[in-house]
Amino acid sequence: MKRITSFEQYTTEYKKSIDTPEKFWSEQAEEFVWKKKWDKVLDWNFDEPDVKWFQGGKLNITENCLDRHLKSGKGEQVAILWEPNHPEAEVRKITYKELHLEVCRFANVLKRNGAKKGDRICIYMPMIPELAIAVLACARIGAIHSVIFGGFSFKSLADRIQDADCTIVVTADGAFRGTKDIQLKGIVDEALEICPSIKKAIVYKHIHADINMKNERDVWWHDEIKFVSSECEAETMDSEDPLFILYTSGSTGKPKGVVHSTAGYMVSTDYTFRNVFQYNDGEVFWCTADVGWITGHSYLVYGPLLCGATSLMFEGIPTFPDAGRFWQVIDKHKVNIFYTAPTAIRSLEAMGLDFVKPYKLDSLRVLGSVGEPINEEAWHWYNDNIGKNRCPIVDTYWQTETGAIMISPLAGITKTKPGFATFPLPGVQPVLLDEKGVELNGNGVEGRLCYKFPWPSIIRTTYGNHERCKEAYFATFKGYYFTGDGCKRDEDGYYRITGRVDDVIKVSGHLLGTAEVENAINEHPDIVESAVVGFPHDIKGWGIYAFVICDNERKDEDNLKREIIQTVTKYMGAIAKPDKIQIVKGLPKTRSGKIMRRILRKIAENDLSNLGDTSTLLDPSVVEEIKAGAL
Ligand code: WT7
Repeated sequence: MKRITSFEQYTTEYKKSIDTPEKFWSEQAEEFVWKKKWDKVLDWNFDEPDVKWFQGGKLNITENCLDRHLKSGKGEQVAILWEPNHPEAEVRKITYKELHLEVCRFANVLKRNGAKKGDRICIYMPMIPELAIAVLACARIGAIHSVIFGGFSFKSLADRIQDADCTIVVTADGAFRGTKDIQLKGIVDEALEICPSIKKAIVYKHIHADINMKNERDVWWHDEIKFVSSECEAETMDSEDPLFILYTSGSTGKPKGVVHSTAGYMVSTDYTFRNVFQYNDGEVFWCTADVGWITGHSYLVYGPLLCGATSLMFEGIPTFPDAGRFWQVIDKHKVNIFYTAPTAIRSLEAMGLDFVKPYKLDSLRVLGSVGEPINEEAWHWYNDNIGKNRCPIVDTYWQTETGAIMISPLAGITKTKPGFATFPLPGVQPVLLDEKGVELNGNGVEGRLCYKFPWPSIIRTTYGNHERCKEAYFATFKGYYFTGDGCKRDEDGYYRITGRVDDVIKVSGHLLGTAEVENAINEHPDIVESAVVGFPHDIKGWGIYAFVICDNERKDEDNLKREIIQTVTKYMGAIAKPDKIQIVKGLPKTRSGKIMRRILRKIAENDLSNLGDTSTLLDPSVVEEIKAGAL
């Protein structure tokens, strides 16, 4: 596998990618199987925005993930190595040949149930191989997959199905999660009551739960596969045909359906996987992210499979049966590359070293981090206790919208610094802007992180609303893609992400829109209004602090708080549960009615000394009341 092998080579490749980006990326794209070569490498403008890579090219990404490897003699290699929730349950090893067969077979099931090229298919599944099979089966027939994280509940699921007008949902009877069984089908049933676009639900039997199957609408996966052949020609797709939609939170209550295209996404995920992790043939790669997030799409499914790797998929959680589970799985499957999130590292660190000591961890070669800034403390713990000071750590910075890693060390090649994502990968042109949008040149500067040139896996649109894509990413600073993150470039030119500068919070690595959480809280019948902000949290990175106004004199505050948490869990999912709830009489608002979150943020951070100017508030006295009751 071709990849960068030294820092000198990184420097020359980087320069080449900036001086002649079209030449650089067309060389990368040559490696794949194309049904027809592209006519033009790149067309772009950031004002519309309108970006097209490899125009005129025709391909199917699954031929590159699967068929290509069968032809090159990798058929017997394990593609997906599945570790179940329960350590005693049976492991599954699915070879490239078997995966190819299962994908083709399920692709035929989708067709049999009415799916056509361009249709949107919702996938709401546990972390089992069938999730990857369903994803790839969609790609096989040119249907657009929209995977919804299994931790989201019925309203979030329904909103996302409605937004994309999905016609089919692929799900399971349930999921195992530690000691709990999650009743996925029940959640789907509730969601589908308000989703008339769904004609079929295909249900995989996994936990053997007692579920309702609705006549005409619901069919069993295991029944359907009996009716179809295991051969399915890959649909011919244009380079720019959408491959998938993945929802991400924004500053309004409505999640954005980030749309990725076929060829560009393929080229970027393959390139970054190989180079960042320095993957060697035969190694076991484990990304702990759920396929419901972009990390799972790009580095559990597409990136590794494009590179013919063995990708480990784990259904369980890090703390079941105990907090040594990750380390036990690493030894059990001789994992070589381990990719996880800082929040997981911090929570396992807090459990103590007794859970790490029983394990050798000697198969590990590279460690990765993703999803939020990794604090130095957690970085050192990871380096010392898991990597035993011999595994390079790649702190990979990117976003749902970028599709692939943007700023990151190359494992073992780039000299790292704890807390720094280091340097941009080839093809990535970051700039730091001041608040007026002026580029800050040189080193030792801090500003808003933007990109001034497209890369192949850049977001193409937000589903059904192109204006929103423009507004959210391309309008703040004209001519640039704006990440929403603050960033520092130190004296040595190393990049360090300082965190979000907008109304979204990173809670345990999950991006949540404050407005989305507020909407969920407001579903409680006694709540008239709420305002949500983040506060620094030792394990989660950021916690959720909710200020709520109740419309009657509830004496039982504790019960009310519990009910609010239940409401949020029901409408959004447990990941959005507030950590702190303060019941208030009023919220600090400007005369035009806008909530001044700056003040609430300070209160939540317990920084009461300097609340800034409160004179423009409609009623400055509410601030005193909120301060007095701060948690
Ligand atoms: C946001 C994107 C990256 C895929 C998973 C999350 C934050 C992500 C890092 C990192 C500092 C990071 C940023 C970014 N972020 N990786 N290595 N260092 N911050 O994707 O849910 O779209 O979130 O996660 O704030 O904008 P996402």
